[in-house]
Amino acid sequence: MTKLIIDGIEVDVPAEYTVLQACEAAGAEAKERVRAQTAAAIAEGAFGVPTLLVDGELFWGFDAFGDIDARLRGDDPLDDAALRRWHDLEASSVRRAVRPAATVSPGPNPPRARDDAEGAPRATIALRPREPADDERHFVWQSDPVQVATTVPARTRAEFDAWIAKITADPSVTLRTITADGEVVGTINTFLLGDERYIGYRVANEHWGRGIGTEAVRLMLRLDPVRPLFATVLARNTASQKVLARNGFVAFRDQASDDGPEVVLRLD
Ligand SMILES: CC(C)(COP(=O)(O)OP(=O)(O)OC[C@H]1O[C@@H](n2cnc3c(N)ncnc32)[C@H](O)[C@@H]1OP(=O)(O)O)[C@@H](O)C(=O)NCCC(=O)NCCS
Repeated sequence: MTKLIIDGIEVDVPAEYTVLQACEAAGAEAKERVRAQTAAAIAEGAFGVPTLLVDGELFWGFDAFGDIDARLRGDDPLDDAALRRWHDLEASSVRRAVRPAATVSPGPNPPRARDDAEGAPRATIALRPREPADDERHFVWQSDPVQVATTVPARTRAEFDAWIAKITADPSVTLRTITADGEVVGTINTFLLGDERYIGYRVANEHWGRGIGTEAVRLMLRLDPVRPLFATVLARNTASQKVLARNGFVAFRDQASDDGPEVVLRLD
């Protein structure tokens, strides 16, 4: 037996009793008080034991006791501005409804399932820093005749290697690899051209039309806050214009290039 004092009521209970069982033994009034206090703790945001509420801040777990001491001493290691910044940080990946890879065609596709649709196929789209091993796939995509048809001419291997060396050494370039459920599926970057900042991207052909390009641009817009941001797209590259329009870019000017008429889009 264990002797417990519950809200001033002394009671002997078997050692294996739960708190509620002990309260039963102490009577309905004590049980009601535990219920009310538990509800109040949950309303304050408590989600585990022990939780302590100090000056309106919740501290959870035994390992937080040192932090409570620090706070009571007036030397809280976390300042409110840092907390707010962490709280407001954007996620670096999104879990979105996408079309399954095998079902898409290179052209327009039927609408994707809404993001909140039950059972919609989903993938986690993320941008991570480019690793040298990603360059092999990047080289294959940029050499692919289907990709070349809507973008710039392919670089030779030597030109490609020199270009990668240049942009990875340039601190004004933000270069990321696009992954879908961890698989490398594309590349995206922002860069300076004169004093204008631009965005460029590619998705592996076998993943086109799944919604990955749209999500990758959305994530890059969080990562790189510079505005205005521009994009140059061949007029015949309707897929890329759709990706940009969905992310708020608007047509800004038309221009000619060796590869055909181009549209410059702008996001403010
Ligand atoms: C542009 C590119 C990145 C788009 O990537 P993606 O993952 O296929 O993009 P999304 O699936 O998010 O969106 C593409 C949209 O264009 C649509 N689309 C594709 N080809 C199209 C076409 N010929 N006509 C009209 N719409 C087309 C797709 O169906 C999709 O729209 P939907 O979801 O409403 O069906 C990809 O096609 C690519 O890598 N192209 C080669 C490189 C390139 O063009 N880079 C951009 C240079 S500016």
